Amino acid sequence: MQQSLKCSVNVRSCHCKWMSMVKSALVDKDHAVYLPQDEMPTHWYNILADLPEPVPPALDPKTLKPISPEPLMRIFAKELIIQEVSTERFLKIPDEVYDAYLSLPRPTPLLRARRLEKYLNTPAEIYYKCEYVNPTGSHKPNSAIAQAYYNMAQGCERIVTETGAGQWGSALAMAAALFGLQCSVYMVRASYDQKPGRRIMMETMGADVVASPSKKTRFGQSLLETDPNNTGSLGIAISEALEDCVTHDNTRYCLGSVLNHVLLHQTIIGQEAKKQFEMIGVQPDVICGCIGGGSNFAGLSYPFMADKLKGKSTTKFVACEPKAVPSTTRGVYTYDFGDTAEMTPLLKMYTVGHKYPPPPIHAGGLRYHGKAPSLCLLINKGYASSVAYSQNEVFEAALILAKTEGMITAPESAHVVRYVIDEALRCKKDGEKKIIAFNNSGHGLLDLQAYDAYLNHKLQDYEPAKIEVPKIYSSNF
Ligand SMILES: Cc1ncc(COP(=O)(O)O)c(C=O)c1O
Repeated sequence: MQQSLKCSVNVRSCHCKWMSMVKSALVDKDHAVYLPQDEMPTHWYNILADLPEPVPPALDPKTLKPISPEPLMRIFAKELIIQEVSTERFLKIPDEVYDAYLSLPRPTPLLRARRLEKYLNTPAEIYYKCEYVNPTGSHKPNSAIAQAYYNMAQGCERIVTETGAGQWGSALAMAAALFGLQCSVYMVRASYDQKPGRRIMMETMGADVVASPSKKTRFGQSLLETDPNNTGSLGIAISEALEDCVTHDNTRYCLGSVLNHVLLHQTIIGQEAKKQFEMIGVQPDVICGCIGGGSNFAGLSYPFMADKLKGKSTTKFVACEPKAVPSTTRGVYTYDFGDTAEMTPLLKMYTVGHKYPPPPIHAGGLRYHGKAPSLCLLINKGYASSVAYSQNEVFEAALILAKTEGMITAPESAHVVRYVIDEALRCKKDGEKKIIAFNNSGHGLLDLQAYDAYLNHKLQDYEPAKIEVPKIYSSNF
């Protein structure tokens, strides 16, 4: 008895030593911060509980009244609609989704970009969340897994979606395979042509992929009749996926960004980051990310924004978009459709207009006319700000990251890298030691053609001369 007690004491002291060794290996402020798997957050954070005022409701375009959830049941899994309108602060991650997150794997590391800091000779500290560390290479599986799971759980057999760059489509194809669902993806033609690797990736995981606009839908056909070379847009691909959904039995639609439930699922990123920063006793001064619909930016920033909304922090939040699709920097804050064919409810957002034809920039995931309503509200109220860049300056920054950190980032994520570099250089000029945190939302290993075009001086910058957003509906909201 005594002997076994002695033995267990030894084991415990060994265990303690081992744990402290593990802990110091996990916490290295100068390089990387790993959150142990058993500390991964168990709930998603819902910013709707903490906003200074409610997000203006989605409107039915026919009645101009707030849309009721019932008609949406034909489009989305029921649980996702419940999440869409929920104002509960924390929503539990289902066990099946939690397990799938752990095997992605999550938590993702928080890395310190020491060599980038040194190259820039800045007093700023730069950290980034590695959302590219999973089989499909971006933050998108955080929502794809949840959406596929809820569809599977309610007995749906097939899910359809749109994809721009191919990151969301790949993530949903993977998630559909994990939960035994069929998956069809409408891929924006500009990206379909630029990124055959992404198409092959989706097909390898069992999805069928068509270039959008396509001949598979009436809306696609109508566009191709007027312009057979139409390069497509996310707005068009959404319309096609919605048409496919409502014309096929036991099919539901999944959206990769913009809506509250998508942003909600992405908050796993920021909640992990919060714990990681706590582990090293650091509080970020600036939090930034690129924005297509707003989900990866919201995912990292909303758990920190919660503190700002409660007056507990002065962190600055900066969203980065392309000059070619300047929704928040040059668009109008108004009600607009989420798609080109006017099939969705009206959402209040910063928009360049749902008929705006986004130029074929390589950051396909940022070619969306509007942005998430909650993010637009926060920008409108001054809690977050935004900046826009052209693609050559973005790729210049991406090359600096690649040469210093050995990381080839996605063209979308490169937008925030541009901002981070500019901010770090500003810190150098002003002698400010800021802590900058950004979301490295994806890798660019299937975007090498874009890098090749940049290296060969073939990238064109686009900037609309004039943005005209028709005021579709005036409302009191
Ligand atoms: C790597 C990457 N980052 C960012 C985005 C933009 O989407 P969101 O604003 O929803 O994060 C995309 C979209 O496809 C993407 O692939």
